[in-house]
Amino acid sequence: MTQEQHDQHRSKSGFETRAIHAGYEPDAATGAVIPPIYATSTYKQDGVGGLRGGYEYSRSGNPTRTALEGNLAALEEGERAFAFASGLAAEDTLLHSVCGPGDHVVIPDDAYGGTFRLVDKVATRWGLEYDAAPVSDVDAIRAAIRPGRTKLVWVETPTNPLLNIGDIEALAGVAHEAGARLVVDNTFASSYLQQPLVLGADVVVHSTTKYAGGHSDVVGGALVVRDLELAEQVGFHQNAIGAVAGPFDSWLVLRGLKTLAVRMDRHCDNAERVVEFLAGHPGVAEVIYPGLEEHPGHAVAARQMKRFGGIVSFRVAAGEQAALDACGRAEVFTLAESLGGIESLIEHPGRMTHASVAGTALEVPADLIRLSVGIETADDLLADLDRALG
Ligand SMILES: Cc1ncc(COP(=O)(O)O)c(C=O)c1O
Repeated sequence: MTQEQHDQHRSKSGFETRAIHAGYEPDAATGAVIPPIYATSTYKQDGVGGLRGGYEYSRSGNPTRTALEGNLAALEEGERAFAFASGLAAEDTLLHSVCGPGDHVVIPDDAYGGTFRLVDKVATRWGLEYDAAPVSDVDAIRAAIRPGRTKLVWVETPTNPLLNIGDIEALAGVAHEAGARLVVDNTFASSYLQQPLVLGADVVVHSTTKYAGGHSDVVGGALVVRDLELAEQVGFHQNAIGAVAGPFDSWLVLRGLKTLAVRMDRHCDNAERVVEFLAGHPGVAEVIYPGLEEHPGHAVAARQMKRFGGIVSFRVAAGEQAALDACGRAEVFTLAESLGGIESLIEHPGRMTHASVAGTALEVPADLIRLSVGIETADDLLADLDRALG
């Protein structure tokens, strides 16, 4: 069987089987079960233009990256996937692939700060216009679209850090009615908990730095697309811009993806315990988690996500200083930016990840703490939070 036939066969397999096998067959020469790290920039040609397997130069293609891209495409049920040096490199390449001067995009009004900065401070300089709207409000997104000029409706769900939920199916309808494409940043949910392309989205974005890599040891990004036309545009720009994932980084992300399902289930188990604990703590004013019935996006999240994820945000009753103090006191929860790794992290979005949106409409509450709940022993996490909250 060819790689393609194998992958077609596997597209009918379960998620965990695809995570472990899709994108790579044991090496024909050696039988290596895991893809080698092809640390090469160039490839010998058998006569001019006689490429082996299409490889000529590693910006254009590298077998370790190809294995990762095949795996990601299978997990998201996309036509093709593309791996990049970071999530933002993936986002930038997508904007260049689809938009030009005078075009317009709609972004979440609580977008990840780096996405906002890319659109607001970089893309606008070459003529892109944007409006921000709440992803949880389909009518507000529809109203933000400028028919004929809006090329992308860009959503995160759940959003970072307020965990708002967008209805992917409904938003795809709204985008398509206006001739725009729906982009879903699936970083927070991960490919295991949510498959936006199956729900009608056109592009999935990942910061593979997070759950995909899963071990806080690599920075990477990915785009997965549903149709061939867009795949060709993105493939062209991936090579033309050149912000590709290197072979070692590709290898690390691929290794991470193989255990995504088991890690995510434990992240969700532990997050549920943390939510229950925080909800009963007098120092906590509000717990934000889409798994809670009172969360305004709960019904939509329950429909489109397998479980509710490993990120929990909460507001500290005694205000900003108390939130900063709690971040400083935590020990098992490491005070650090990022998320999605096996270790639990705590952070203060207002002063850390989301400092770049301070003073804008996207500013986050000062008493907010975001937790990336890891896969340690749940009781140790609860004891740590109890100590941190004082
Ligand atoms: C939701 C989301 N999208 C995109 C990014 C950007 O990814 P990277 O940091 O890998 O460039 C991040 C990073 O935190 C993120 O949280």
